[in-house]
Amino acid sequence: MTTLVREPAEFRRACDDARADSSRVGLVPTMGALHEGHFSLIDEAKNRADFVAVTIFVNPLQFGPSEDLDRYPRTLESDLAGCRERGVDLVFVPARESMYSAQFQTHVSIEELSKPLEGECRPEHFDGVTTVVAKLFNLAGPCAAMFGRKDYQQWKILSRMARDLDMPIEVVGCPIVREPDGLALSSRNRYLSATERKRALGIASGLRRAHDAWHEGERNPATLRSFAQEPVQSEFDGVDYVAAVDPDTLMAAAPSPSRLLIAVAAHLGTTRLIDNVVLGEDPRP
Ligand code: PAF
Repeated sequence: MTTLVREPAEFRRACDDARADSSRVGLVPTMGALHEGHFSLIDEAKNRADFVAVTIFVNPLQFGPSEDLDRYPRTLESDLAGCRERGVDLVFVPARESMYSAQFQTHVSIEELSKPLEGECRPEHFDGVTTVVAKLFNLAGPCAAMFGRKDYQQWKILSRMARDLDMPIEVVGCPIVREPDGLALSSRNRYLSATERKRALGIASGLRRAHDAWHEGERNPATLRSFAQEPVQSEFDGVDYVAAVDPDTLMAAAPSPSRLLIAVAAHLGTTRLIDNVVLGEDPRP
């Protein structure tokens, strides 16, 4: 049975009760509009834990003033049905006011890892993410928490936060789930028109080119980056970044690295997509 709770105190109690019953808690924080990518996180949580909680909250703190907070897809009924089908134990769907009271004034900030890539384009985004996830971690208590590696920088930042603040949370980064043609699953894919959906493949195609070059022995970060950039540049309306950086620091990579993160953020019309691959580690996108 899947229980729906709306109050933070009920969520906390349910997780405490599960642990008191010797269950390991698995947490899957989401903003809803669940798709197969989220369901793979739920499956991983079920592998690692006995009691699985999904949170659904479109967190206003992580959207900039000109971003898609108002039109972000809200599909609660089908999300709940998906959670029931997958055997999720509890779904926490708080109201905005119960997460952020009128007096709310505390934020969690991670310094260096928040600056590059997404941080340059969305300056307040990560403070919003770390603040809400810190709250969710505090409510859930000791658990294993699943995050998709499509949001690679987010996963790195949240891992850092849990370590730096001694949170009793195992932060697990789960593989990107792709459509058969390579498009990374995202709640924002539903904004794409049929033509944009085709052009969106420019990202996976660029990542694949870089991946192939790596396998043929290319190790120069600038060259690998240019392989990834070409199809993105030609298919997308705007490119925020195509970066080739160290996968741990997110800063400039060594001249001939043993692993290399290629990360992309680009726009098609009003839709912004991100994706990445870690060369030397991930399968071909
Ligand atoms: O990845 C997301 O969906 C969100 O950033 C998260 C982690 C649920 C925080 O709102």
